[in-house]
Amino acid sequence: MKRKFKLDSELVLAPMEEYTDIAFRLLCKGYGSAMQFTEMIYPEGVLHNNKKTRKRLLTSEKEKPVILQLFGSDPEKLYETAIKQKDKFDGVDLNLGCSVKNIMENGYGAALLDKPKQVEKIILKLKTIKNMWVSAKIRLGINNKKQGLKIARILDECDIDFITVHGRTAEQKFSGKTDLKAIKEIVKKVNIPVIGNGDIKKPEDAEKMLRYTGCDYVMVGREALKNPVIFRQWKEYREKRNYKQLTLNDKNDIFTKYLKLALKYNIDFKKIKWHMQYFSKEMEKGSELREKINKADSLKKLQKIWYYYLKKQKT
Ligand SMILES: Cc1cc2nc3c(=O)[nH]c(=O)nc-3n(C[C@H](O)[C@H](O)[C@H](O)COP(=O)(O)O)c2cc1C
Repeated sequence: MKRKFKLDSELVLAPMEEYTDIAFRLLCKGYGSAMQFTEMIYPEGVLHNNKKTRKRLLTSEKEKPVILQLFGSDPEKLYETAIKQKDKFDGVDLNLGCSVKNIMENGYGAALLDKPKQVEKIILKLKTIKNMWVSAKIRLGINNKKQGLKIARILDECDIDFITVHGRTAEQKFSGKTDLKAIKEIVKKVNIPVIGNGDIKKPEDAEKMLRYTGCDYVMVGREALKNPVIFRQWKEYREKRNYKQLTLNDKNDIFTKYLKLALKYNIDFKKIKWHMQYFSKEMEKGSELREKINKADSLKKLQKIWYYYLKKQKT
């Protein structure tokens, strides 16, 4: 029998293309993230054993629960891909939120918000896989919020294990603010667990998302790239109504741990640099540091830049 969907904390890490590699997911799990998602993956890449995709499919027992996120519109291909990977992942998530132009032009991601019949077909096919949660990540609509509500109801009728709702339309991309009221509306209309998503920057935001919308869990994306410690801060806040602010030592901990994991899992040098650029956000003289990181052409140089910066900040 399939496990019921239940997590041991409320905050989960968002899927983020080019960023949520296995090393970053393990880093966040170490700080207390309750669930991780892969970057969005295209079935053809898996079915043709593409080298870049193989790397994206790496998982570890230590990061569980971990969800395979797929994008596409062909029920058979999505099913074949998920079933091939079922022993490594706890669930399969259908991307119904990507607003990137060429993805939508191909009829994938958020373009499917306007195709309820197709979505139903895909989900019912995925649901025939035993022992895998089936979920979907949606936006509020393409350009009107009725679309998201309608899709959420269909996903509910399919008895999907959970949905994630990013509180913006595809047309908005990342502009404007997350619409908590619209997320609340969806939560009210469905019986399945809902993960609220959008603009979480600190534990207080997560609490507001939970309380105001009535959702069950909260997803953090961009803020986790800057501050993966947010998952630990959330747990502290939940217990004590208080949490430790991020320190320079925390930043060093983040950098050191990520680097170790990135080396273990052979993460591309350019991606390690991207992560470092994010880690150095909101740090004193961060823009100078980022410029140096940008110019680094080896791991040794990157480490030197980082440790030199830390030493200078501490003196
Ligand atoms: C760099 C980047 C890559 C993303 N890639 C994905 C993806 O692969 N799949 C997906 O469902 N959402 C993706 N998203 C959207 C995030 O999962 C999340 O819904 C969005 O960033 C809003 O949450 P936030 O305000 O906490 O960042 C991506 C977002 C960013 C910034």
